[in-house]
Amino acid sequence: MRFENKVVMVTGAASGIGLEVAKRFLVEGATVIGTDLNAEAIEKVAVELGNKFQPRSCDAGKVADIEALFAGIDTLDVLVNNAGIGIMENPEVLDEAAYDKQTNVLIKGPIFHVKYAAPLLRAAENGSVVNIASASASISLNGYTAYASSKAALVKFTKDAVITVPGVRHNVIQPGLIETPILKDAYGDNPTETLAPAAQLTPVPRLGQPADIASAILFLASDEANFINGADLVVDGGLSKVHAMSVPAA
Ligand code: NAI
Repeated sequence: MRFENKVVMVTGAASGIGLEVAKRFLVEGATVIGTDLNAEAIEKVAVELGNKFQPRSCDAGKVADIEALFAGIDTLDVLVNNAGIGIMENPEVLDEAAYDKQTNVLIKGPIFHVKYAAPLLRAAENGSVVNIASASASISLNGYTAYASSKAALVKFTKDAVITVPGVRHNVIQPGLIETPILKDAYGDNPTETLAPAAQLTPVPRLGQPADIASAILFLASDEANFINGADLVVDGGLSKVHAMSVPAA
């Protein structure tokens, strides 16, 4: 078991990737502090996952909430900044409140989680952060204005943190299209159907699953990845390379 006696925090643990990664850390022996904005949902998850899962209601985009969360924690080995929402608007119709809500959780929140987690992670043996960005940090997609720019900032923050927050490993994952409830924000009530052509176009021809991302998170957080610091791992079945494939060969 790779995470025996380790304490892991996962933000946005009530659904999708966060829920799956919390389960995987538990299977590997960790105690998991699972936070979510949805208090009811995270309590339900706790009932399902047992007493090594500690539910916390927290707005991951609100600094006062983050500070209060860390006031009750004295040990931490791994921080997974995963919480997120998808409000899809292009710049010319962008609403300020929606922009703020989105950027608070996608970029301000991870930075402030690192701020409060840093002393705990440094005191741990091999403490590390895994940030969940998005392949939209690297490719241009319609509607992803605040989302993609926040995720690109998260990639940059991760690389900078290697030197600005030393003594802790920092890595970031760029998931492609992963079958979770967040896809409904962008692609309507039946995203699996809407995204079927994109899934077929993906060199690994399917949508990703939360387990695909959880495997990468656990690897980067584990001792096997002890020399991996500042890595930016795209986990998208090759989807982000299809853009290049559509350009005729030179
Ligand atoms: P999801 O919608 O299944 O889960 C997101 C969780 O975050 C929910 O439980 C939600 O309540 C929580 N949350 C939202 N705002 C919060 C806040 N302010 N404070 C605390 N918790 C909050 O979505 P999914 O797909 O599991 O998303 C996880 C991460 O993966 C997000 O950062 C997302 O941007 C990223 N991602 C997802 C992709 C996908 O295709 N599903 C692709 C690329 C990145």
